Amino acid sequence: MSDPRLAQLAHSLPQLRLLTAADDLQHYGRDWTRRWTPAPLAIVLPASREDVQAVVRWANQQQVAIVPSGGRTGLSGGAVAANGELVLSLERMNRVLAFDPVDRSLSVQAGATLHAVHEAAREHGLIYPVDFAARGSCSIGGNIATNAGGIRVIRYGNTREWVAGLSVVTATGELLELNRGLVKNSSGYDFRQLMIGSEGTLGIIVEATLKLTDPPPPAQVMLLALPDMDALMRVFALFRSTLALQAFEFFTNQALQHVLAHGAQRAIDGEHPFYVVTEFDAGDEPARDAALAAFEQALTQGWVSDGVIAQSAAQAAALWRLREDITESLAPRRPYKNDVSVRVSRVPAFLHDMQVLLTREYPDIEVVWFGHIGDGNLHINVLRPDTLDEDAFITQCEHVTRLLAQTLQHHGGSISAEHGIGLVKRAYLQGTRSALEIAMMQGVRRVFDPSGILNPGKLFARD
Ligand code: FAD
Ligand code: MLT
Ligand code: ZN
Repeated sequence: MSDPRLAQLAHSLPQLRLLTAADDLQHYGRDWTRRWTPAPLAIVLPASREDVQAVVRWANQQQVAIVPSGGRTGLSGGAVAANGELVLSLERMNRVLAFDPVDRSLSVQAGATLHAVHEAAREHGLIYPVDFAARGSCSIGGNIATNAGGIRVIRYGNTREWVAGLSVVTATGELLELNRGLVKNSSGYDFRQLMIGSEGTLGIIVEATLKLTDPPPPAQVMLLALPDMDALMRVFALFRSTLALQAFEFFTNQALQHVLAHGAQRAIDGEHPFYVVTEFDAGDEPARDAALAAFEQALTQGWVSDGVIAQSAAQAAALWRLREDITESLAPRRPYKNDVSVRVSRVPAFLHDMQVLLTREYPDIEVVWFGHIGDGNLHINVLRPDTLDEDAFITQCEHVTRLLAQTLQHHGGSISAEHGIGLVKRAYLQGTRSALEIAMMQGVRRVFDPSGILNPGKLFARD
C-alpha cells in the first residue's frame, strides 16, 4: 500500500476490506453512464456501521472525499469516482435484519439488492412495491438516495412512500436514527425524507426500515399498438378511468427494434409508431370484461390499432420484456439520457413540444423514447452515430438539454424525474429549482456536511 493515508487506514481498521487493484478501481469507480474515466483513490467495503463511522472519521482527518456506492446502476453519474475519492461500497452490508409482522416492516442493510428485499417481503406474504429492471443489482441504499421510481409508481408511488426509518452515518462519523419506523411522527423536521433523494451528499445510509403491503389482486398484462402520439394519453385516460391500473408504460417502435435485436420476441405483427404495456387488476370476471371493453372502445375510436393480452405468466413476462429490456439493449451504444417529467395533465402539450424540439435539433441522430408516461415521466435516449466523435456528440446533447430545460420550465416540469441529478444534470438544476431553493439546498448541505466530504461535485458543481 504505497499511499501512506491508506496504509494508516488499513493499520487502524485491519478488518476493513480495502481494494486498490487497477480493475477494482475501474469497476467501482463508474456507474451505468460510463462517461467518466474512473480514478478513485481506493475502495473500502465495510461490513458494519461502526466500520462506516470509522472510515468517515479517517476521511475527515485526511480530507479525502467519499463516494457512497450501491449497485452503481445509477444513470446520472452519482456514484462515479473520477477525482481521487474513496469509494465506500455498501456491497457487503447486504443482510435482511428483521421483519415485523405487526408493523409490516422489513429492516435491511443498505447494500441489500432490491430483488433481495422483494424476496424477503414475499416470504412473509407481503410485497415491497417499488420495482424496475435493475432490481437484481441496484441496492436499497441507492434506491433511497435517488428516490427511485420505476414501473409501479402509478399505483404505489416512489421509494419515498416506503421508507419508515433510516440509520445514517453523518459526514462527521456520527449515527442518526431517523423516524425509527413510526407511522406518525409530528415532531419537527423529517430528516428521513431529506435523506431520500440526497444522492449521497448528506449522509451514508447504512440501514433502512421499509414499509410492506399486501400483494395486489391477480393482474393481466396487455400490449397495445398505437397509431400516433396523441393516442397515448387518450388511451391512458380511458384505461385509468375504467381499470385499476398497476402499470402503464410506453415505448416507440425504435425502442422495440432495439429490444428485438437484443433477443426479445415480437408480440404484435407489423410496425406501429407507439406501444403501451399496461398491467391492471383482473382478479374476477367483471374486471376482465372491463379490460376487453376498454380495449374495444380504444379500437373503435382509432386510438389503438392492435393488442394482445397475455394468457399465461410466461406470456406476461415476454410482454414486459419488450419494455424492461430497453435500457440493456441500448447500453452498448452508451446513450445520452434525459429523464424528465411534467404533471400528467401537461403530457400531451409537452410531448408535442418535445417532438418539435427533438426533430429539429437531432435531424440525423436516432432518438429513442420510452418511459412511465402514466406518471408524466419520459425517458429520451439519444444514440451517438459512428460519424460523430464523443465530445462533439456530448456538446450537441448538452445544447439540446439546455433547450429541453427551457421547455420543461415552461411546462413546470423537472429535469430529473427519477434518476437523480448526479454529474449529468447539475448544470440544468436551475431550470427546475429556483435560485432561492438551490441556495437553501446548499445551505442544508453545509449543515449536514460542513467539510464538503460527501460526494462533492454531485448534485451541485464543486464549491
Ligand atoms: P448507485 O448507482 O450505486 O448510486 C446512486 C446514487 O446514490 C449515488 O449518488 C450514490 O452516491 C448514492 N448512494 C448509493 N448508496 C448510498 C447509500 N447507502 N447512502 C447514501 N448514498 C448512496 N431508476 C429508476 O428510478 N426507475 C427505473 O425504472 C430504473 N430502471 C433502471 C433500469 C436499468 C436496467 C438500470 C441499469 C437502471 C435503472 N434505474 C432506474 C436507475 C438505477 O437503477 C436507480 O437510480 C437506482 O436507484 C440506483 O441504485 P444503486 O444501488 O445502483 O445506486
Ligand atoms: C427505465 O424506466 O427503464 C429506467 O428508468 C431506465 C432508463 O431510463 O434507461
Ligand atoms: Zn424509468
